[in-house]
Amino acid sequence: MVVNLTMGKPSRPREKNDRSDENVPGLPARKAAAKLLAAVVDARTPLDGLTDNEHGHPQYRTLDPRDRSLVRAILVTALRHRVTISRLIGRRLERPLPANAHALGHILHVAAAQILFLDVPDSAAVDLAVTHAKSDPRTTRFSGLVNGVLRALVRVKERALPAELAKNDDAPDWFSKRLVEAYGVDKARAILAAHRLEAAIDFTVKSDPEQWAERFGGIVLPTGSVRVERLAGPVTELPGFAEGEWWVQDAAAALPARLLGDIAGLEVADLCAAPGGKTAQLALAGARVTAFDMSKSRLRRLTANFERLRLSADIVEADLATITPEKLFDAILLDAPCSSTGTVRRHPDVPWTKSSQDIEKLAGVQRRLLERAVHFVKPGGRIVYSNCSLDPEEGEALHAAFLAGGHEITDDPIQPGEIAGTDDFVTSAGALRTTPADMHLGTPALSGMDGFFAARMRRAG
Ligand SMILES: C[S@@+](CC[C@H](N)C(=O)[O-])C[C@H]1O[C@@H](n2cnc3c(N)ncnc32)[C@H](O)[C@@H]1O
Repeated sequence: MVVNLTMGKPSRPREKNDRSDENVPGLPARKAAAKLLAAVVDARTPLDGLTDNEHGHPQYRTLDPRDRSLVRAILVTALRHRVTISRLIGRRLERPLPANAHALGHILHVAAAQILFLDVPDSAAVDLAVTHAKSDPRTTRFSGLVNGVLRALVRVKERALPAELAKNDDAPDWFSKRLVEAYGVDKARAILAAHRLEAAIDFTVKSDPEQWAERFGGIVLPTGSVRVERLAGPVTELPGFAEGEWWVQDAAAALPARLLGDIAGLEVADLCAAPGGKTAQLALAGARVTAFDMSKSRLRRLTANFERLRLSADIVEADLATITPEKLFDAILLDAPCSSTGTVRRHPDVPWTKSSQDIEKLAGVQRRLLERAVHFVKPGGRIVYSNCSLDPEEGEALHAAFLAGGHEITDDPIQPGEIAGTDDFVTSAGALRTTPADMHLGTPALSGMDGFFAARMRRAG
């Protein structure tokens, strides 16, 4: 069925003081979901900040924990499948929604995410969307259309959804295009397929990975991290959390720090350290670590993490662009700020909040930070540059340009076999490249890793 935009009688506007909506069970959660979806796709606000329990969006913070979980599930689903949902809604409309009908679009997407992907009764998803539309002066005249489109979606979903999902192209154009340019069509599709799946949870453990894998009901990965497909409760309630025996860190994120080799007893600087996953690896490997970062709040998290893990580091709040180091270090890790396009499985908002222009801008920032990093290391000392972007502009191309750029630097290529389980990820240029389509471990849900790039260089001696 195709629905006419003018379908349905306009409903009676609500009285100014009629607050009865707030008492409709489930409605505040759907309203919050639509509000936050607008903040992500219209204002390009990262989802994590909006759903922070202390500093998140007020409409989110007023919800109880169950509704917060529901809102997060709706948003993650609506963003992960945004293209699929748009197409399925679009086909039920006689003509496209007006360009300025953002609020209406968000109500439809929030409901469609529930109808198509979540374990919410269809009738509840439809009815709440209609009530929501009626309660907002911007959408009240479209409440009939909301009802018609969503009921049509309920009727056709069994047939239409599998066909739509088979296209496997659920990402904004700019992002798909860059993936295809960088990896070719087949690998780009495999990455997009991986982006539809919830990522497993990886742990870096201080010792005895086999024991922790058994206790968590997980596996030890070829690279040494422990992986669990799903957790029944919060990580803070797992054994060993309070004792600081492990920390959550994606298997790919655990690789760059290891590229510095044997650092026991060396002075090592982590130049973009917070919240400290890699810094903890450096400290655990026996280095005397100085952790730099410009963000006070992120350094507070690093400090708390180090207290729990019973590790120590000198912590320096500073902007790398402006400080001159008081001493030179034996080795440097620069895990630079980036587009985070390697973490889309956990952050499906990234392709909708970032753009090609952001990638170009970030590549400039990374180049400048790398230029600064050279001044922190002794002649002959190692520098590992890394980030969690899938884009070669922030990785392979930046590395090549830096080597060719007349800096006091020589390449220090990574050798296959250097770190167990990583041979497939060492590139012909001697760098490390991982993607969510890598590391196949039986089932898709157990497979994959974040997209990461890492390269190693030495300051000329
Ligand atoms: C990718 S995150 C680092 C993640 C960290 N290495 C880890 O493994 O937990 C990048 C960090 O760089 C910091 N940063 C960005 N620009 C900086 C600058 N100019 N000086 C110092 N720190 C900076 C950010 O505050 C952020 O914490």
